[in-house]
Amino acid sequence: MTLKLAVLPGDGIGPEVTRQAVRVLRAVTEGKLELQVEELPIGGNAVKKFGAPLPDETLQKCLASDAVFLGAVGGPEFDSLPRAQKPETGLLAIRKALGGFANLRPAVAYGALAACSPLRPEVLRGADILFVRELLGGAYFGEPRGFAQRDGVETGFNNMVYSVPEIERVAHVAFQVARGRRKKVTSIDKANVLEVSQLWRRVVIEVAKQYPDVTLEHQLVDSAAMRLVTAPASFDVVVTENLFGDILSDEAAALTGSLGMLPSATVGGKINFYEPIHGSAPDIAGKGIANPLGAIATAAMILRYTANCEQEARSIEQAILAVLDSGCRTADLKRAANERLVSTEEMGRLVLEAIDKAKSRPTHA
Ligand code: IPM
Ligand code: MN
Repeated sequence: MTLKLAVLPGDGIGPEVTRQAVRVLRAVTEGKLELQVEELPIGGNAVKKFGAPLPDETLQKCLASDAVFLGAVGGPEFDSLPRAQKPETGLLAIRKALGGFANLRPAVAYGALAACSPLRPEVLRGADILFVRELLGGAYFGEPRGFAQRDGVETGFNNMVYSVPEIERVAHVAFQVARGRRKKVTSIDKANVLEVSQLWRRVVIEVAKQYPDVTLEHQLVDSAAMRLVTAPASFDVVVTENLFGDILSDEAAALTGSLGMLPSATVGGKINFYEPIHGSAPDIAGKGIANPLGAIATAAMILRYTANCEQEARSIEQAILAVLDSGCRTADLKRAANERLVSTEEMGRLVLEAIDKAKSRPTHA
């Protein structure tokens, strides 16, 4: 079997971290999958070279691939560009074109990284959340949007819009993934104020009837934001709209200790889209110190959700844990003096070595 993977390294630390992830992907799939990787431009560097944040060739080649893997886009030098040229516009356009609407963002509190989180260990214990963030609707895509003069004053506006089918389809994904976990879905909205949330809640309740084995609860986004850091272990699967999911999933990075740890997979469309949730981190780009583990964990999700290689996916995830247990840390994770500071490249190599070591050790797991 071949896996045609379009890799969009993007801006900032994107190229550094995707390089390590692809390296790990190649190693674990050797002899099992023929991995065909093509690197394509997106984001700020694509604007510089081709005048567009999503060049047509990139789009066409992504549409002809089995999966798309993005590093990160954006940076301060592009912030003042008009909307059509913003790196983020390219990202939203590729998300839309690929069609995946359910962005799965796991956030797990690893024991080895407990010292990296500002939360107390007893609060963190057992925290293992899977966010299902709706990715193609809400304020990110709602029309009308823009700037206007209203009564002589300059005004900016967006619209948080959801239709019943858009809510139904993402709710189904949440209930289905919950069945493979602890069978609990928390739907997060702002139904005490927003009509769009009232519809959201009504539709989620309706969909839940098809999953009587899964417990459904509702939380308002403000109190959910608080519970995420006071009782994170009380969540299993969280389903929420685009903007709430954007905000809450970054907040959940506090559980793992670093934004650099979190992977994501976007499913439900024609072609799955994979991206670590950290941004382009322009302040540390090009220094070789970025944490590649979010990108490497994203590679595991490619194997799980596109290539159907669950065992290889797990071998990557277990190797990440083994490397952390051995005390190796990129700069964002290093706290104690006895931890060994490693570079982006070394971290990639250590994960590879841990995979090899696990292979040569016979296990019955
Ligand atoms: C994310 C990012 C993006 C988003 C930006 C870069 C457009 O913050 O993936 O969480 O808001 O979706
Ligand atoms: Mn975000």
